[in-house]
Parts: sequence; C-alpha cells; structure tokens
Amino acid sequence: MSATYFLRVYGCQMNFYEADLVRNILNRTGFEEKNSPATAEVLLIMTCAVREHAEKRALGNLRQLVNLKKTGSARVVGILGCMAQRLQDTLVNSFHADLVVGPDQYQRLPELINAAMNANCPQIAVELSDECYDRVRPVIQNRVSAYVTIMRGCSNFCSYCIVPHVRGKERFRASEAILSEIDELTAHGVREIVLLGQNVLAYNYNDFDFCRLLAEIHKHSKVCRIRFLTSHPRDLNERIVKTIATLPRICPQLHLPVQSGSDRILKLMNRGYTIEEYRNKVALIRQYLPEISLTTDVIVGFPTETEDEFCATLELIKSIRFDYAYMFKFSPRPGTPASLLTPTVPENVIRERLLRLIETQNQITRESNRAMLGKIYEILIEGESPRGSGCMGKTPQGKVVVVDESLPAGSLVNVRIVEVRGWTPKGEIVFSSARTPDSPEIRPNFPTNMQEVKLW
Ligand code: SAH
Ligand code: SF4
Ligand code: F3S
Repeated sequence: MSATYFLRVYGCQMNFYEADLVRNILNRTGFEEKNSPATAEVLLIMTCAVREHAEKRALGNLRQLVNLKKTGSARVVGILGCMAQRLQDTLVNSFHADLVVGPDQYQRLPELINAAMNANCPQIAVELSDECYDRVRPVIQNRVSAYVTIMRGCSNFCSYCIVPHVRGKERFRASEAILSEIDELTAHGVREIVLLGQNVLAYNYNDFDFCRLLAEIHKHSKVCRIRFLTSHPRDLNERIVKTIATLPRICPQLHLPVQSGSDRILKLMNRGYTIEEYRNKVALIRQYLPEISLTTDVIVGFPTETEDEFCATLELIKSIRFDYAYMFKFSPRPGTPASLLTPTVPENVIRERLLRLIETQNQITRESNRAMLGKIYEILIEGESPRGSGCMGKTPQGKVVVVDESLPAGSLVNVRIVEVRGWTPKGEIVFSSARTPDSPEIRPNFPTNMQEVKLW
C-alpha cells in the first residue's frame, strides 16, 4: 500500500534528524513525499513539547490540517514526536487527530498509517522503549552539514523539563552505527556533521566514551568539520576540553546551557553544578581554546526567582560574555516538579526580566561579532546568502558570514571580515583554504588570524 504524505517539523535538531528517519521509513515502504499539504493524503506534524508556546503552534497547525482534510486530498492527519507522547489520546479526542505516534514508535508508521486509512480508526502508539533506530538511516538531504544522533532520551530530570518524560531514559547509539552513518554522509558530499543528543558528553557505549568517539570519527572519517550539542556543564572535564583542543577538525564551538546565575535556583532546577563550578569550567575551556565560541540557554522567571537572583543571571551573562544565548521564559510543564513550585513569578515580571536579559546579551553578541573585523576565518559555504546575492557560510566557531561571490556549497575558503552589517559579518575572500574534502587532514589556518592566534 502506498500513499503520498506531507511532513511539517517543529522543535529541536533531534526532531529534524528524526524527520529524515521517518522519511526513510515511509519512502522505503512505497510512500511518496509531497511538499504541500494540499496535495498529500497523509498529513504529519512532528512536534515539540518543551514549552507551552511550542505546543500551541503545533496545535494551531493541527487544526488547520484537520480543516484541510474536509476539503483537500488528505485522509489522515497524524501527530508525531514529543507532544504526541505527552498528550496521547487527548489529541484524538479533543483535536481530531487520526494518528498519534511517540518518538520511539516511528518504525511502525507504515502499518499505523495504513490502519488509520483503511480501518478508519484512530491509531495511538506511544510506548517508550530503548529504540535507537540503528537499523534505519535518515534520508540524506542534499546539504553541506548533517546531523548525526549519538544518543537518545535523557535521564537528568532537570525539574522544569519535559524531555525525560517524553523521550525516555538516556541510551547511546552503537559507535559502529554512528561511524558508518558518517561515512555514508561524507560519501554523499556532506562536509560537516553535528553530533546530537540531550547530553552528548555522557556518551558511553561499550568501551567508547565521548572522547574516544570524537577521536575515532576524527581518525576514520573524511568529514571536514565536526560539531556537537548539547553539552551538560556537569559532565564537561579537562579531558574533553583537551580532546577538542587537540583534534583540529573538531570545531571550536560549545553550547553549554547555564540556565540561571543563582546557586539556589540551579539547585531547585536539579542541574548538578554551582555557578563557581560553571565559571571554572568556562575558564578551563578558554585556557585551552581561546578562540572558542560559547553559547548558552537561560530560563527567566523560574518559580521563586527573586530580583536579586535574576540580577545574578544578568551579572553572569555580562561577565562570561557568551557569543549568543537562547533566552526563554519559564513555561510550566505538567508533570514536572517545577510546575508545582510556588510562588510563581508574575507574567509581567518575567516579561520585563526577559527584555532586560535580551538587551544585555544582544549588546554582547553585537560586540562579539564586531570583534571579528579584520580577522581571517576559514568558512564553509552552505548556500546562497539570505540577502539575495552572493552566498553564506560558517566559521569554525559557527558564525554566519556572507560574501559577495557565488561559490558552490561545500567550498572551503578563507575570508577577511571587512564589515559587520547589523548582526552579520561580511567577508572578502583572501585565498582558498589549503583543505579540500579529499584531504581534510591538512591543518588549515585554524582557528583564524595567522599572526595573532595560537594554534592548538
Ligand atoms: N538537553 C539540552 C536541551 C534541552 S531543551 C540541555 O540540557 O541543555 C532546550 C532548552 O529549553 C533548555 O536548555 C532550557 O533552557 C529550555 N527549557 C527546557 N524546559 C523549559 C521550560 N519548562 N521552560 C522554559 N524553558 C525550558
Ligand atoms: Fe531537559 Fe535537563 Fe535533560 Fe536537558 S539535561 S533535556 S534540560 S532534563
Ligand atoms: Fe526536542 Fe522539543 Fe522534544 S526540544 S526533544 S522536540 S520536547
């Protein structure tokens, strides 16, 4: 049985990776993807549950697609992913979904879709398991950069977070599966991989830990750039920092969510580190990797957060000077301990704190981009510039740079930053990179400005 499907994806990188798994599971059983919901028989939404706002967007989209079913070619509307796992039969009973499939049940999609279509009966599959999808490969998109999942689930249970509840316990993909997936990707022209997991530093499979995994990828694969996210500050240690510093194709970029600048709030969040420990780890990273780009996540208005505690977060942001921060209003997630904590912070106070935080961080991000002026960076071209002419690429630190020339995606070029317009640095090509995809081992002008910067 075959049918056409349309897939819309919300949420984090993990969902985008898993959407490509879903595409493969469907395509190999005869389904065909369409890029408009108006022309497909099966309409699927891959959802996120991390904040209420994410769920509202997905539910709005679900309503639209259910309406479309009345007029268009659609016969089945399905919800996949984290919100499917959280809301389960409510999505059928209150929102008229025909199919609800949690993150560990994607292998059953062909069978479930057929049942929903033919038996005309809603299908719900939400058991959590130790599924790692090692027998499925994601559809390889024609991209320069690709995600590779190295672990699924999370066992940290930060008190605000729904992820462990909807994605099950932490488990690690087999290192052989990861390495062979990376080989396939590079054979298809992928130049950069981003290793994914809720806490990649905890990777532990047989006698492979995260450092060994990085070293093996570095040794055996031809991929030009290796990135990874997310890193839990508790699990970052000197050995990991040294590994990143000594393997030149591991990019000098670290996403290290701090969440709050107050020890009392961090404890309530069950994060497992203090601000002093966090600061010491940042100092260690910068000692080994002075050129690193550091980014973070912050939650504002966690229940009981006082003005002083929020100011401690502001202070931390000012003194660490992250290159970028993702800043969120606390969103109570039913079933998590933090959703029961009182007193909560009033909405208007949360909004005002968030604005102050954003303003502070924006200033720092702008300054950090300005500091790129005059320096030389190797950029990996990803595609056309969003501005219409020329193209865009990323530095090893992950910063987007635009250039006037049109270069093929996948090119590695060295550029000098000549201008920072708004947020985005503009580069001029100075000479091509010494590296090519066939000889990625040649150490390029990593990290950047050759006279000034120490190589590691
Ligand atoms: N595993 C990763 C990312 C998890 S979700 C990590 O530990 O960093 C991404 C971010 O969403 C988190 O870092 C946190 O800042 C934010 N977040 C998670 N739950 C939230 C909630 N209930 N309200 C607001 N922000 C939340
Ligand atoms: Fe959520 Fe914490 Fe796990 Fe990240 S580490 S996914 S914030 S529980
Ligand atoms: Fe990702 Fe959202 Fe699920 S952040 S893991 S899609 S809850």
